[in-house]
Amino acid sequence: MQPQIASTRIVPTDWLNPLPLAPFFSRPQPIEVDLGCGKGRFLLERARTHPDVNFLGIDRMLRRIRKIDNRARRHGLDNIRLLRIEGYYAVAYLMPTASIRTYYIFFPDPWPKKRHHTNRIFNPRFIDALHRTLQPGGIVHIATDHQEYFQEICGILRGDNRFTEIEPFQPTPEERTDFELWYEGKSPIGRLSLQKKDGAPSTQLPNATI
Ligand SMILES: C[S@@+](CC[C@H](N)C(=O)[O-])C[C@H]1O[C@@H](n2cnc3c(N)ncnc32)[C@H](O)[C@@H]1O
Repeated sequence: MQPQIASTRIVPTDWLNPLPLAPFFSRPQPIEVDLGCGKGRFLLERARTHPDVNFLGIDRMLRRIRKIDNRARRHGLDNIRLLRIEGYYAVAYLMPTASIRTYYIFFPDPWPKKRHHTNRIFNPRFIDALHRTLQPGGIVHIATDHQEYFQEICGILRGDNRFTEIEPFQPTPEERTDFELWYEGKSPIGRLSLQKKDGAPSTQLPNATI
């Protein structure tokens, strides 16, 4: 019998301070985040095959969050929680320091037009936020089909001595995201995985300004 879950959605009462995540989950387990989880193909499959991990899916599109919530409840996946919010804000302001074991950031919007590049999520402030919120030894897995954006991401992260590059994450066929399936055979996929160094000095929480 699957456990009955009322809702997998987290709706914080305080949007300005770090959100203690553990109480939202049924079991105290490591927390991994799928940032920009889209339609949730990866998140749902990963949660199904890794019941000993708590997964937090973050996306700004309500329709997608609702769809994943329905599916997670239908399949009794009580190790999934969902947050509908802008990704940078979530990582910079809501994730507690050293709370996340792994971030999966698959096919972030590339904003291909040059005048829109400032909308890209990967920038030095975002990397600081990832670093602050990762546990020592925590990992970031990135994938994108957009070659120019991939080079930009590699340029930022490979030059950051708070991280060590590790073997890139390879999804199983069932874990491939909707976007990966869409780009399969059309465009090569760039993959980069990094590990936060154990002794790297901690990054400060930025001041919240809204
Ligand atoms: C290109 S899709 C990739 C979705 C999924 N990771 C995949 O690979 O199929 C990008 C997703 O990230 C979400 N997204 C884009 N920018 C975001 C942001 N700044 N904050 C939160 N979600 C964002 C979009 O709503 C969309 O679901």
